[in-house]
Amino acid sequence: MKVTAVLLAAGQGTRMKSSLPKVLHPLCGKPMLWHVLEALKHAASERPVVVIGHGAEDVKKYLGDSADCVLQEPQLGTGHAALQAESLLKGKTDYVIVTYADMPLLRGETFKRLVETQRLNSGPFSLLTVIADDPRGFGRIMRKADGTVEAIVEEYVATPEQQKIKELNVGAYCFKADWLWDALHRIPKNPKKGEYYLTDIVELAVKDNLPVQAVLHDDFIETIGINTRVHLSEAEAAMRTRINREHMLNGVSMMDPASTYIETGVRIGRDTVVMPNTHIHGNTEIGEGNMIGPNTIIRDSRIGNRCKVLSSVMEGATLEDDVDVGPFARLRKGAHLKSHVHMGNFGEVKDSTLHEGVKMGHFSYIGNATIGANTNIGAGTITCNYDGERKHPTEIGEDVFIGSDTMLVAPLKLGDGARTGAGAVVTKNVPEDTLVVGMPARAIRKLERKKKKG
Ligand code: UD1
Ligand code: CA
Repeated sequence: MKVTAVLLAAGQGTRMKSSLPKVLHPLCGKPMLWHVLEALKHAASERPVVVIGHGAEDVKKYLGDSADCVLQEPQLGTGHAALQAESLLKGKTDYVIVTYADMPLLRGETFKRLVETQRLNSGPFSLLTVIADDPRGFGRIMRKADGTVEAIVEEYVATPEQQKIKELNVGAYCFKADWLWDALHRIPKNPKKGEYYLTDIVELAVKDNLPVQAVLHDDFIETIGINTRVHLSEAEAAMRTRINREHMLNGVSMMDPASTYIETGVRIGRDTVVMPNTHIHGNTEIGEGNMIGPNTIIRDSRIGNRCKVLSSVMEGATLEDDVDVGPFARLRKGAHLKSHVHMGNFGEVKDSTLHEGVKMGHFSYIGNATIGANTNIGAGTITCNYDGERKHPTEIGEDVFIGSDTMLVAPLKLGDGARTGAGAVVTKNVPEDTLVVGMPARAIRKLERKKKKG
């Protein structure tokens, strides 16, 4: 049995007031469209078809080869949009799920339930409904006495009596494919708006005396659709709650989930604690037993086990095990801190490897460097890696002691066991076990101490 999903994503999304196509607006780090396609994977067996129109180029570029695209031009309503998939799918699939790309909270299981219901339905299709006090402009479901669906009445044509109906059209349908293509051609043009509404397909079935089944869904949150940025923020909060809940059920502690922002796809091991106001983005993997935050931003990074990251920013960085970072550290792309490294406050590391046990306590910049095991980087040490045109490397050996405020002018090598005096400006390589000092302050003159008044 072949089930194919058709996702309608051609609409303009006028109410978003945005130059970005609505379906590309992100929700917990991934475009709305991504979330719907992920959910549909659970219910569909074939490659999905996405109907594009407004912002077609951008949407197509985003989709790459994850879906087939068909263009709807001009955009004449949801019925007309679904019809565009006919040329690709006619005769190639048994069932077609049609849904809207602006419903990103619908879950895989929900689509699955819809397909299961339709498989048992002798009629041509089933649709998803929800009962809610706040109708949010959704179409209202009219049922016959026997419980089958009679019509969907769009809000703007609904009588005051119909507007009171609490059962709403969510916007997910599962059709028998053969019946669908024929019926889509028969949808009449809406006299008021000049468009073809998919929702009018219900009446076509009813006229032919074919039963339409409703799957009444009990989770209103899942059916939040996005027409404005207010809805977008509501969906974001709902998705965040869902993501955080899943992490907590998997053994991650959160003191305050409401202020913990974790994007879709982030992996976190058990017994890690995520403290408030922490943002974890992108392709990030965090191991077990870590303490992350508060006030931390992590993107596209790897963290091993038993690390501490306090009030810090990491991007494209790696921490191995038992590393402690912060407060107020900045790890940029290519920063790699091996086990037992300590990086204290106000440091910055970029494109550098700090080997096991390196200590870098205060106010340092390390760029394009490798630092050998157990080396101590004194407060205020700077790798002067940039000459205005090019970046140059600094190689520091093991068990080195860099005095406070040392300037390491790259390219530069310091052998194992080397030492630099406080304030040294090192411009030449330093051999193993050698002490270099530079620029000591000299006495210039004797001062007369002013007597304090009173
Ligand atoms: C639609 C339903 C409504 C349902 C609601 C649930 C219709 C007529 N109404 O209303 O019953 O309660 O969704 O979310 O279907 N689109 C196209 N091409 C078009 C027009 C729209 O691809 O020509 C796409 C949009 O990009 C969007 C989806 O279809 O993803 C729904 O369109 P939208 O205008 O948001 O419909 P609603 O007014 O929300
Ligand atoms: Ca909508």
